[in-house]
Amino acid sequence: MMFRYIFLVVFLTDSLRNFHVSGCDVNCADKPVFTPSRLVVKYGDPTSATCVACQGVCHDKLFGLEKSVGDVTENGTMLYWTVGKLTDWDPSPMCYYNTDSGDQCCTTLPVIVYQPPENVSISFVNHSGPMFENSQYTLQCIVENVAPVGNLVVTFYRGQTELSRQKSSSKPQDKPVTDTFTLNVNISKEDNGAQYWCEAKLELGPEGPQPPPVVTSENITATVHYGPHLQKTGNLESIKITEGQSLQLNCSAVGNPSPSYIWTVPPESHSSFNDSVVTIKSVGFEHNGQYTCKVSSEDRTATVTFTVDVQADVIPYIITAVVIAAVVIVFVGLIVYFQYYRHNKMGHYNLKDVLSFHKRQAVPLDP
Ligand SMILES: *[C@@H]1O[C@H](CO)[C@@H](O)[C@H](O)[C@H]1NC(C)=O
Ligand SMILES: *[C@@H]1O[C@H](CO)[C@@H](O)[C@H](O)[C@H]1NC(C)=O
Ligand SMILES: *[C@@H]1O[C@H](CO)[C@@H](O)[C@H](O)[C@H]1NC(C)=O
Ligand SMILES: *[C@@H]1O[C@H](CO)[C@@H](O)[C@H](O)[C@H]1NC(C)=O
Ligand SMILES: *[C@@H]1O[C@H](CO)[C@@H](O)[C@H](O)[C@H]1NC(C)=O
Ligand SMILES: *[C@@H]1O[C@H](CO)[C@@H](O)[C@H](O)[C@H]1NC(C)=O
Ligand SMILES: *[C@@H]1O[C@H](CO)[C@@H](O)[C@H](O)[C@H]1NC(C)=O
Repeated sequence: MMFRYIFLVVFLTDSLRNFHVSGCDVNCADKPVFTPSRLVVKYGDPTSATCVACQGVCHDKLFGLEKSVGDVTENGTMLYWTVGKLTDWDPSPMCYYNTDSGDQCCTTLPVIVYQPPENVSISFVNHSGPMFENSQYTLQCIVENVAPVGNLVVTFYRGQTELSRQKSSSKPQDKPVTDTFTLNVNISKEDNGAQYWCEAKLELGPEGPQPPPVVTSENITATVHYGPHLQKTGNLESIKITEGQSLQLNCSAVGNPSPSYIWTVPPESHSSFNDSVVTIKSVGFEHNGQYTCKVSSEDRTATVTFTVDVQADVIPYIITAVVIAAVVIVFVGLIVYFQYYRHNKMGHYNLKDVLSFHKRQAVPLDP
């Protein structure tokens, strides 16, 4: 008696809705048997099941099948339950027979009535327009009119990548409900152009339709504004360059929208630049100084400063110096050589020559 009472309590709390007959014992021996033992039916579809109320033990016993929808036909102890169009969210029929002690022995056929979601939509909660990098946003997937919500599994995707799989946290319910699922996502610049979508799947077990019913949302494309981020940050120290050489300053940055560039350059250079790269074919002293590149994308900016130190080209001076030195050396050498020649060899013959010159000159002059 105690055992039966406990069971009754469990039965009552577990499925109050199936409690059609007072004092029905679903844990008795030789229970009625349903074939199939479980039904999964789409709302509005036909269905049927057979119950053998008692296996040879109910010659003179009363038996039957209680139902909220459909028709019952009998053949011996076989009971046929048929429904042309299932429009009840909780139709679970109960098959029973009366025992000798006056109680009832019964079996309830579990029937899951399902309805795939009417609509699945995805959005970023409380947000429209472009997003900003390094911020968190909340994706929301709304699944409309799905039953039973307890069998619903929602999956969020970014492209083909699964982000999160969630089960409903709302209380189990046979009738269709609309449920909302959320997922926090950290948005980075790589998410610009990424497609987000969600999928609602009813997991109805092996008795359910194969494959299980799946409804997917449309894709939403993320537009992420970011940057500007400078691509090269090194080498910002003083750039030493010799006059006459070519100079290139690169402050390329990435950003969405595409960044614009404004350069502040030494006033003496009389130039203005609005491109990511500044090129000076031949550097002069007027190009000496600081070059500041201001990169802007909307109201976000980044700046980089290059200090250009133009140095004199000393090679021409060295060449000139070498040439002058060479000339001087040659000149000095010549002087030294002639000095030596005069004092030594030239001096020796010189006397004779000078004398003979005087003689020869003297001859015609003194006939
Ligand atoms: C009842 O069942 C028996 C066998 O189980 C079968 O031969 C007979 O045709 C059935 N009668 C009806 C009306 O279905
Ligand atoms: C699904 O829901 C979205 C968002 O509420 C709506 O724009 C769309 O028209 C709906 N589609 C259908 C088939 O109801
Ligand atoms: C969205 O905005 C509404 C009203 O402004 C607010 O009640 C709700 O909590 C917001 N939702 C989220 C997820 O921030
Ligand atoms: C959404 O995008 C993914 C890949 O990014 C694609 O596989 C899927 O077919 C798209 N869905 C729709 C409804 O366009
Ligand atoms: C998002 O960023 C926050 C802090 O920036 C971090 O705590 C959180 O774990 C991140 N979430 C994901 C899903 O990466
Ligand atoms: C400037 O730097 C970027 C990034 O390092 C590079 O992709 C680009 O080719 C450079 N531009 C020039 C003209 O060198
Ligand atoms: C850059 O300057 C040139 C001439 O100085 C001009 O034609 C061009 O439109 C400018 N570009 C931008 C993006 O300001």
